[in-house]
Amino acid sequence: MSLVSAATDIAQAQLSEALPRRWAHVQGVGRRAGQAAHLVPPSERDLLVASALLHDVGYAPTVAKSGFHPLDGARYLRELGMPTRLCALVAHHSCAYREAELRGLSADIAEWQDEQTILRDVLWWADMTTTPDGLVVNVVDRIEEIQKRYGPEDLVTFFIRQATPELVAAVERTEERLRSVAIDYTAK
Ligand SMILES: [Fe+2]
Repeated sequence: MSLVSAATDIAQAQLSEALPRRWAHVQGVGRRAGQAAHLVPPSERDLLVASALLHDVGYAPTVAKSGFHPLDGARYLRELGMPTRLCALVAHHSCAYREAELRGLSADIAEWQDEQTILRDVLWWADMTTTPDGLVVNVVDRIEEIQKRYGPEDLVTFFIRQATPELVAAVERTEERLRSVAIDYTAK
């Protein structure tokens, strides 16, 4: 079974019934990652799409342990024997280290490295430009929606405000790369 098929099966089993809106979101993020997969080498495209499908698996009721979904997702995927790089991408997706700091879980998340690659930027871009329902959105509206959904006093709202520059930077780097690739492609 391919990594993408395995990721789809896991995400569907964990999210489709328990958290249908989250399931719609991760499918949207998976589609978006697939649309930008040409930015990474062919050998890494399955890893990118699989990480997009699985980045929020830590929200699933049977997976959530600490209540910090990037960590719970990464630990769960490690238990399943998924590749370490995939676990690390999930553990660190969308600036998770900042939320880990606020939750006192920095040491836990430090089990994995944030690879800081083009692939990682694409994953962050896909997550930050997909609505909770799986539709495409710009990063500014996405960040605003998160703050509204959680409310002014929630830790997630503090987190997303702190993380905004890094999230926007990853989105902008990816969109710049998408533009460059498009120009290169049409020039040939
Ligand atoms: Fe997400």
